[in-house]
Amino acid sequence: KPYVIGLDLGGTNSVFGIVDARGEIKATTAIKTKAYDNEEDYVNASIDALHIIIDQVGGIEKIKAMGIGAPNGNFYTGSIDFAPNLPWAHDHSVPLAKMFSERLGGIPVGLTNDANAAAIGEMIYGVARGMKNFIMITLGTGVGSGIICNGQMVYGSDVLAGELGHVIVRPENGRPCGCGRRGCLETYCSATGVARTAREFLEKSDTPSLLRDMNPEDITSLDVSIAAQKGDKLALEIYEFTGELLGEACANFATFSSPEAFVFFGGLTKAGDLLMKPLVRSYNEHVLKIYKGKAQFLLSALDGSSAAVLGASAVGWDL
Ligand code: BGC
Ligand code: NA
Ligand code: ZN
Repeated sequence: KPYVIGLDLGGTNSVFGIVDARGEIKATTAIKTKAYDNEEDYVNASIDALHIIIDQVGGIEKIKAMGIGAPNGNFYTGSIDFAPNLPWAHDHSVPLAKMFSERLGGIPVGLTNDANAAAIGEMIYGVARGMKNFIMITLGTGVGSGIICNGQMVYGSDVLAGELGHVIVRPENGRPCGCGRRGCLETYCSATGVARTAREFLEKSDTPSLLRDMNPEDITSLDVSIAAQKGDKLALEIYEFTGELLGEACANFATFSSPEAFVFFGGLTKAGDLLMKPLVRSYNEHVLKIYKGKAQFLLSALDGSSAAVLGASAVGWDL
């Protein structure tokens, strides 16, 4: 069978791709992850969208398997467990792999953490090709990570290792996180974290800003990066703050596995140098001397969500 389905299930969008053995995406479609109240409705909408692209490649007989990358995805059980950023899975466990398999004529379906899928995608098809030690950090609705060490994914005792988005970076008065604790990296350095920073900075400073023309509740990280690109002082300060915090966090992460690179992916990376410059500067300021200047800082070169779709498809090929 020539194809595998890859699903990158993100906090905002779910992107499906039908992928061939060379890693080419033959057909793709997407739905809004948050538009559904419960897992049944989400799976129904997914199946409707999938039928169209499955037909485009010649029907379900052509599909070997499906791989899913999802927040709080558990590779052993195939379920999503207590995902802070998924309205239909935040308070229970959803056996998503089983649900998809039942609706797709019993094909094998595997599921892993979304950031782990992105790391696998980058390792096989992207900027981390040939690397044995790197840390993937996904900057989307949440902050996720996949740690590749000695050529292998770090899974830990229960396959849930590497949740670097929930490392506490502000122990004093930290922002509340969807995980129920405070001060997690995710509350500052995700797309939603940047929007929170924007609201905070607008309130506590008098710096004139294009962002003051907007309803504070509507501001997104993209608005902040557009303003920053126009030279807006407050928007630039927001990205400085975000980059510095992330750089300091990466300096700490370097001590776990001495990576040769950090690879970034997700909505926030659209800000490019606005984020990366303060990040690298802060990393070098904070990192232990033995690591200084060694790691590369790379942005995913696979378009849009391809790294995660391809990584998820790799999980499918392995079933
Ligand atoms: C979840 C991770 C996920 C990340 C990105 C975090 O809140 O805990 O499992 O990888 O968001 O979606
Ligand atoms: Na992970
Ligand atoms: Zn958290």
